[in-house]
Amino acid sequence: MSKNRQHAAEFLDKALADGVNMREEEMHFSYNGVLYPTVVCNPDTFKALESFEARKDDVILVGYPKTGTNWLDHILSTLESTAAKYTEEELKQQVAIGKELAMAQRLEFGDPEIYERMKKFPYRRILITHLHPQALPTSIFKKKAKVLVLIRNPKDTAVSYFHFSNGMTCLPTSTWDQFFTKFMTGKVGWGSYFDHVAEWDKYINDENIMAISYEELKEDLNLGLKKIAKFFDFFLTEEEIQNVAEKSSFKAMKEKSSETHGSAGDIFFRRGTIGDWRSLFSEAQNQEMDRRFEERLAGTKLGAKIKYDIYCKVRGDKQPS
Ligand code: A3P
Repeated sequence: MSKNRQHAAEFLDKALADGVNMREEEMHFSYNGVLYPTVVCNPDTFKALESFEARKDDVILVGYPKTGTNWLDHILSTLESTAAKYTEEELKQQVAIGKELAMAQRLEFGDPEIYERMKKFPYRRILITHLHPQALPTSIFKKKAKVLVLIRNPKDTAVSYFHFSNGMTCLPTSTWDQFFTKFMTGKVGWGSYFDHVAEWDKYINDENIMAISYEELKEDLNLGLKKIAKFFDFFLTEEEIQNVAEKSSFKAMKEKSSETHGSAGDIFFRRGTIGDWRSLFSEAQNQEMDRRFEERLAGTKLGAKIKYDIYCKVRGDKQPS
């Protein structure tokens, strides 16, 4: 769960330290046919996840890995705390309680007892997950908690995931060609990108679900923040929105990354641009991805939101950087 930066940095430093002594074949385990990283997830926690009790006012973000989930984590926490006008004392208390309850950074991280402890958190909860809808506890849908679905174009997501996997000691290393094959076959943590987007697309007309793309936030962050704030009923002035936008810029977040993400800071905040896929994709890989997008996502609402023709075609328009 968000709201505890120091704990998050310690957690990530431990994951990096644990990874040093792991064999590559131990770095993922499979649960219901999907791979997950061993240092942060465990099968008993997945079993316990169904006991998680959602609250109607939980702020939930779901995004496949490397779609900008840490960015949105920061945005949601900052929007929520600005709108709630917490006092300094309350902010400190949230951090202390988060630490005491050993809250994790993602809904599916941590030990199996975490869902019992999360019941005790006395403030509004910001919950981030990479899971697909069938893997989420049913209580989220029953309670009608609002879910923001974050998407990013598949080519930049793959390239970001490649650099991330090679940077983290707890994830297997590969050449780009090897990683591309893993990404296309779903042999990476949290499984197939295409399944993830296609599954979430089935929920997209639900009134409690809204989608936002990495690219639209890059195009116009203030507008994106306003859409998010409206969806979650966070009331902020223009000036406050502007302030959140400044705090959420790539530069601002990267500068603070060692504080927020420990020694993994530079791995999480790498380039923060659109179109870096051009540095790695071969012609054959471009064609394979174009075909797969066409087959799996082209006719879907989330597929349309990705603006594939603009951001992923070889002769795409100039991108915002
Ligand atoms: P790159 O590797 O392309 O730079 P996640 O948080 O889901 O792991 O996603 C990480 C990606 O989001 C990285 O992409 C990272 O640089 C990018 N990112 C993080 N913060 C950002 C910000 N404030 N603005 C733009 N991109 C950001």
